[in-house]
Amino acid sequence: MVFRTKFTELMGIEHPIMCGGMHHVSFAELAAAVSNSGAMGFITAVTQPTPEDLRKEIQKCKSLTKKPFGVNISFLPAAKPPDYEAYIDVVIDEHIPAVETAGQSPGKWIKMLKDKSAARWGKSLYVIHKCVNVRHANSAVALGADMISMDGYECAGHPGMDDVGGLLLFAVAAKQLKVPFIASGGVGDGNQMAACLALGAEGINMGTRFMASKEAHIHAKIKQALVDGDQTGTMTILRSNKNTERVYKNPQAMKCKEEEDKDPGNINVVIKYISGSLYKRSFQETGNTQDSVWSCGQVMGLIDDVPSVADLVHRIVTDAESTISSRLNGMLSSKL
Ligand SMILES: Cc1cc2nc3c(=O)[nH]c(=O)nc-3n(C[C@H](O)[C@H](O)[C@H](O)COP(=O)(O)O)c2cc1C
Repeated sequence: MVFRTKFTELMGIEHPIMCGGMHHVSFAELAAAVSNSGAMGFITAVTQPTPEDLRKEIQKCKSLTKKPFGVNISFLPAAKPPDYEAYIDVVIDEHIPAVETAGQSPGKWIKMLKDKSAARWGKSLYVIHKCVNVRHANSAVALGADMISMDGYECAGHPGMDDVGGLLLFAVAAKQLKVPFIASGGVGDGNQMAACLALGAEGINMGTRFMASKEAHIHAKIKQALVDGDQTGTMTILRSNKNTERVYKNPQAMKCKEEEDKDPGNINVVIKYISGSLYKRSFQETGNTQDSVWSCGQVMGLIDDVPSVADLVHRIVTDAESTISSRLNGMLSSKL
């Protein structure tokens, strides 16, 4: 049996699972492996130093899979923002079917993505906007987003300021959103996939779980840390900067939090800890889990191995199916 949802139908994929963009993790190899498994992979645009590097990464991904994959473009606060429009032009040029957007005030970019793709190809690409509360989700929909990736408090990356966990957030989203949504944050197995679909989601998004897969292009020691860690192994920083980030709990993250607490809201005191180049070195070169601040989610508590992406997706889908058809169905009875 397969799961048919609005997400699988719109994207033309087999399984209602996506791997959202992860800075310094979501390269062509991982995106292609996820898409080849029947789910949908995303390349992170701004991990690529220039728009032309993004084009090469997209072309590499096309050489590794014939199945649909997308691109993540995160519009996050930065002292020197990337040339987003140039990245968007490459995405349009390469005829990417879906973009995962993230960050504040996405309206201008959603309109640009929609207008430019329609002008070039006669049909707009799909925009899946990732956000952490239903009010922001509804604004993104009003601005043209086709789908929402709803990130609960458990998530790696940026859980926002509201601290609402997925179990409630997804149920509220199902009631209040007028477009399909994907459940994201803290999801790592088939039971959770069944639960997310039961709550009204049209699919699941996983980041941290896919980091601990063979095809994620990061150091083996980082993957092992995800296997060894549990659900208590993360912490949040940058709340006072209104840019809360969930990261792996280590001495660097704790020092960063200490400095933040001494001078809340002052980005200059924490900037030396959060530079992307530091965790890029841990991910790509040293595998040192302790000397940089890097994102991961509470779902570490469910990660026990480093499988291939194909095995992981197969396991999640078959477990979700048996949870629904055996466990849940077995609980239904017409007799008292
Ligand atoms: C190392 C890492 C880097 C990430 N970078 C980005 C990013 O650049 N843009 C983005 O929109 N989300 C980013 N995310 C968030 C993921 O796309 C996804 O929403 C999140 O991991 C879901 O939560 P989970 O890790 O509990 O599955 C990142 C996550 C991780 C673990």
